[in-house]
Amino acid sequence: MFALKKTFPPDFLWGTATSAYQVEGGIFNDWSAAGHDAGTGVAHAERYLEDFEWAQSLNTNAFRLSLEWARLEPQEGVWDSEAEAHYLRVFAALKAANLEPMVTLFHFTLPIWFAAKGGWTRSENGVYFQRFAERVAECFGHCARLWITLNEPMVYVFKCFDEGLWPPFVKDRRVALKVFQNLLKGHTLAYHSLHASAKQIQVGIAKNFTLLEPLNHLNPLDQLQAYFQDRIFNRAFVIALMEGHFEMILPGAGKITVPFDPAMRGSLDFLGVNYYTRFRVNAQGAHLTPHNAPHSDLGWEIYPEGLLKVLQLAQSLTAARDLPLYITENGLADASDLLRGPFLTTHLAQLAQALRAKIPIKGYFYWSLLDNFEWAEGYGPRFGLLDAERRLRPSAKLYQSLIQAAQAEPLRPS
Ligand code: FCB
Repeated sequence: MFALKKTFPPDFLWGTATSAYQVEGGIFNDWSAAGHDAGTGVAHAERYLEDFEWAQSLNTNAFRLSLEWARLEPQEGVWDSEAEAHYLRVFAALKAANLEPMVTLFHFTLPIWFAAKGGWTRSENGVYFQRFAERVAECFGHCARLWITLNEPMVYVFKCFDEGLWPPFVKDRRVALKVFQNLLKGHTLAYHSLHASAKQIQVGIAKNFTLLEPLNHLNPLDQLQAYFQDRIFNRAFVIALMEGHFEMILPGAGKITVPFDPAMRGSLDFLGVNYYTRFRVNAQGAHLTPHNAPHSDLGWEIYPEGLLKVLQLAQSLTAARDLPLYITENGLADASDLLRGPFLTTHLAQLAQALRAKIPIKGYFYWSLLDNFEWAEGYGPRFGLLDAERRLRPSAKLYQSLIQAAQAEPLRPS
């Protein structure tokens, strides 16, 4: 099939992505306590066997999931053996379905006890996350090769502590800056803990890359705004992990400093790239999608060329250590399913182009296997290849055949 031919290596990971709170159901954490209760959800905790069968039937060979900290450690220092047994069954089922797991430790949700201690706002709380990572490595380290400490740390920082839209609903740039620093520290601790107790694993983060372009390319103020937003949102976290420190002057917010930490430097074995959309920004900082631009049900612009651009950016940020990249999320909310097929085709064509340009991409995970709880938006947005009743959407068949085409004519080593 067109650009996919002889482009993808035979060991390329084709997957779908999920997170525990969004699909499992029956979880009590800081989100449910704050009135964003996912309820019984789409009951993946009960229906995972069936869901993995679906994933396998789509020709995928990998699956991204997260472990819910609030289930495994519902009270401080108390490890729930039933929750542990559950996730061991999940890993066994993934293995039986030939789906390689990619496992996230922190995907936006926290145990209530940890949130009550101030969560990520307090630097001394990093040790609880470290202890969680240690425990996870001991119990599940043998079940997976690919580990993600943090999902979209900068989205978390902005949504929770700058825009105040997600728990704990804080709007304070100084707190946001602290959380940014604490997440870096938390990642560093977890990175080393995972490596200390689990052998032959690779540890990374899933980083949201949003293209941030000036609304008016000729307006120097818009250009400046785009430059600063891009540096702080897309680059800062990765630069800090690569170099072990970060400094930047942000107009209006002062100096951002992450002091040098040798343990932080190089604490990435791969980089996950989550890509959804681009924003055009102006001097007011607004994120604008022009009315005539194609967009998803959430109003996010559909801009496939952006995938190649963010992969180039991710490669440039990690080039010093030639890190492998994974597209750990890419997808759209589309209840009609009319846009999802073209979305997949055009984004995979960009991915193919990136591979031909020798960007070291090792996998692609579509968000999401099934409709789920989209955070503050609730159950409205439909990101799934399957709906909540496990009915396959037509685009799922297309994904299945695109994977088949890519696998049928793999790239032969030259
Ligand atoms: C990403 C999140 C993921 C999902 C998608 C639509 O920002 O990581 O949980 O909500 O957006």
